[in-house]
Amino acid sequence: MDLNEKIVSLAKRRGFVFPSSEIYGGAGSTWDFGPLGVELKNNVKRAWWRAMVQLREDVVGLDAAILMHPRVWEASGHVENFIDPLVDCRECKHRFRIDDLPGGERLIDAWRAGDVDVSSLGCPVCGKKTLTVPRRFNLMFKTFVGPMEDTASVAWLRPETAQGIYVDFENVQQATRRRIPFGIAQIGKAFRNEITPGNFLYRSLEFEQMEMQYFVHPGEGAAKFEEWRAERMRWYTAYGIPEGKLRFREHAPNELAHYAKRAVDIEFDYPFGGFKELEGIHDRGDWDLRRHSEYSGKDLSYFDDLTQEKFIPNVVETSGGADRGTFAFLLAAYDEEPDKDGTRVVLRLHPALAPYKVAVLPLSKNEKLAPLAREVWAAVRPHFMSTFDEAQSIGRRYRRQDEIGTPLCVTVDFDSLEDKQVTIRERDSMAQVRVPIAELAERIREKLPIG
Ligand code: GAP
Repeated sequence: MDLNEKIVSLAKRRGFVFPSSEIYGGAGSTWDFGPLGVELKNNVKRAWWRAMVQLREDVVGLDAAILMHPRVWEASGHVENFIDPLVDCRECKHRFRIDDLPGGERLIDAWRAGDVDVSSLGCPVCGKKTLTVPRRFNLMFKTFVGPMEDTASVAWLRPETAQGIYVDFENVQQATRRRIPFGIAQIGKAFRNEITPGNFLYRSLEFEQMEMQYFVHPGEGAAKFEEWRAERMRWYTAYGIPEGKLRFREHAPNELAHYAKRAVDIEFDYPFGGFKELEGIHDRGDWDLRRHSEYSGKDLSYFDDLTQEKFIPNVVETSGGADRGTFAFLLAAYDEEPDKDGTRVVLRLHPALAPYKVAVLPLSKNEKLAPLAREVWAAVRPHFMSTFDEAQSIGRRYRRQDEIGTPLCVTVDFDSLEDKQVTIRERDSMAQVRVPIAELAERIREKLPIG
């Protein structure tokens, strides 16, 4: 099994991630987060919010609606430009994005210039020269509001959370009396009708984004772009992804999204195909607020009363995926080491991300130990997300907690009944220390940098 297969298998077996609608054969490239997965993903989102909103003086939060006025997506350019060019093979019926064909980059350039020709190319699956001419496929999911399915009632499921922030820019700025520069951060669902979804959580149809739009004076965009890309890289390493597994990649002009003047991806070294996008940092210039001003008729320019200058703010965006991020944290944390029973699997998750911080384990399943062990768990529960496990040998139970990344196990043994002490065992070093039950919460807190 390669690392990807190991993670997919562990995720299913231990309740991190299940295929959606599995009893019906699966919904295809949509995923459900199980009891451990929801904790892990919530922790990833919490760590992001802490870094991007709580610890900053200059960023505030927002939670905008998924369904927006349909004109939003015309203004944003998504109706016209959020397009994949697709070809079908008339023979074997497979479908491809033209950038997945041999010479894909050149084909994309030619397609953008309006003169792409794929008639001489063989189908990548059956080899026949039976590819159709490319057609435009919009990646947004369309739906209808109300009982009529007509053009007047069209609504789109948002393909990025960013637009909610632009549309609320003035509301937020006035309600919080912010001066530029300042940022608005949001976490929420986004939807894309991806043609080539796959690789587990890497590319799915429904996912969560963690996006921040930083509004700046037009002259300040370039400098803030540098600050934010460094800041975002720091965040991933602070939460445990090794530097060697991350890198920056600048977008070439022909791959820039329609809204971007400049884009740099933070890439992660995935076990399928190596370095690929984890998060994008974009200089969106004044594209979004200018377009929304034009399309809504509401002037979204900003007046600086100190300099007496009026301008449309420029935007530096940081845009990461909560699901793709969770996946990267899982991949980076996975470790195997030899031990006396064969192999110890350890998820070396940062304690702030680990689903459970503490597992309380009676040394054995014994009616004398159970009441005290449950008492200890009850004392720990209000302070830390924790679990309790009394089935099978203590060694097996340590391994089970290692495999899901629990940083600390607290063991209640027969001596505990007399001396009112328990043993804390650390996941990474496996070191053990004995502490009084009365000081347990405090001693755990000392060991866990969870913010
Ligand atoms: N607002 C800008 C924007 O949406 P993007 O590069 O298209 O930029 C940003 O997406 C991030 O959203 C990606 O880096 C990735 O983490 C996540 N993402 C995008 N499409 C995804 C998909 N189909 N499945 C999972 N995550 C996705």
